[in-house]
Amino acid sequence: MTDQSSQDRVLIFDTTLRDGEQSPGATMSHDEKLEIAEMLDDMGVDIIEAGFPIASEGDFRAVSEIAERSKDSVICGLARANAKDIDRCWEAVRGAERPRIHTFIGTSPLHRQIPNLTMDEMADLIHDTVSHARNLCDNVQWSPMDATRTEWDYLCRVIEIAIKAGATTINIPDTVGYTAPEESASLIRRLIETVPGAGEVVFATHCHNDLGMATANALAAVAGGARQIECTINGLGERAGNTALEEVVMALKVRNDIMPWRTAIDTTKIMAISRRVATVSGFPVQFNKAIVGKNAFAHESGIHQDGMLKNPENFEIMRPEDIGLAASSLPLGKHSGRAALRDKLENLGFDVGDNQLKDIFVRFKELADRKKEVFDDDLIALMRVGEDAA
Ligand code: KIV
Ligand code: ZN
Repeated sequence: MTDQSSQDRVLIFDTTLRDGEQSPGATMSHDEKLEIAEMLDDMGVDIIEAGFPIASEGDFRAVSEIAERSKDSVICGLARANAKDIDRCWEAVRGAERPRIHTFIGTSPLHRQIPNLTMDEMADLIHDTVSHARNLCDNVQWSPMDATRTEWDYLCRVIEIAIKAGATTINIPDTVGYTAPEESASLIRRLIETVPGAGEVVFATHCHNDLGMATANALAAVAGGARQIECTINGLGERAGNTALEEVVMALKVRNDIMPWRTAIDTTKIMAISRRVATVSGFPVQFNKAIVGKNAFAHESGIHQDGMLKNPENFEIMRPEDIGLAASSLPLGKHSGRAALRDKLENLGFDVGDNQLKDIFVRFKELADRKKEVFDDDLIALMRVGEDAA
C-alpha cells in the first residue's frame, strides 16, 4: 500500500484520463489511454483515475486494461451514486493490484435538485452507495460534488455518513472553481477538526481553474490538512481545466522551505508526458504555461540573456533538467543583446572578434526588427554575407 501515515507525504491522484478527457474535444483512443496510464505509473503517480466505466463500452475496456497492466499505482474508476455504476466500476478496476472505487453525488443546493432528493433522502443514498462500494472494495473514495457551495452543516453530516459507511478517502471538489485559497485551506482544516472520524481517512482536494486559482487552492488545501491532490497533466479538464500536476508538484519541490510536503513524482518525466498528453488530446500547451510551456525556460531580452549566461539562477528558479528538458533556450530576437549573439555564434562555430561582432550586431538588429525570431540559419546567412563583403 502507498504510505499514507507520514504527515509530510502528499498523494498525487491524476485524473487526466477521466476529468481531463471530459474536456470537449479531448477524447483519446484506447491505445493512447494505455500509453498515458503507463507513463503516469512510471513517473510515480499514486492513484490514476483511469475513467468512468459506465460511461461507455470503450471507457470500460480502457479502465479494465489499465487496471490489469498497472504496476505501482492504485487504479481508480468513477461511479455515480447507484449500485449499477458502482458494480460496473468494480468490474473494471478489480483486475488491478490496487483497485479503488470513487463514487460521488452533488450535495450543494443546486446539485441536490438534479436527482430531486430531500437532504435526508440524499444522506440515506450516500450511506447505501458507499456501503455497497465498500462491500466490494476496501479502497473507497467518496466525493460530495460542488462541496465548496454546500451548506457547512450538511457537508459535515454527509462526510460523517460516508466515513461511517466505509469511505477511506474523502475528496472535497471545488467543482466550479469558486473557492479562493484562504477558504480552501480553512474548509479542509475545519472539516478535519469537526467531522467525527475525519482523522481516520485521507482528505483530498480537487480544484477547477475557472478563476485561475486551481493550483493555489490545491496547495492551500494541503496547508489545511489535505493529503491527496487531484490534478491532470497540463491542467487538462472541464472548462478552464483542473489543477495542473506539473504545477503543484514543482511548487512543492521548489518551495519546500515554506511548503514542507513531498510527492513521489519523478519530475524528470514531466516534460515527456506533457508533450504526449498535448499530442493525444489535441490540446496544445500555451507558450507561457508554467513549467511546461515553450517559453517557461526561454529568455529573449538582452539583460535576461546576459544574466543567464553568467548564472542561470539569475532568472530561473528551477533547472530545465528537473523537468526533463535538455536545456534552457536563449532565442534571438529584437530584444537580445551582444552577449547572447556572441554565445550563439560561438555555438555555431564562428569565432568573432569585437569589431566583427559590432558589425554583425547591427545587421542582426535590422533583421530582428523584421522577424519575430532570428534562427540559426539566419545567423549563418548573415555571417556569409559579412564574409563575402570582406
Ligand atoms: O469536479 C468534480 O466535482 C468532479 C467530481 C466527479 C469529483 O470531477
Ligand atoms: Zn472535476
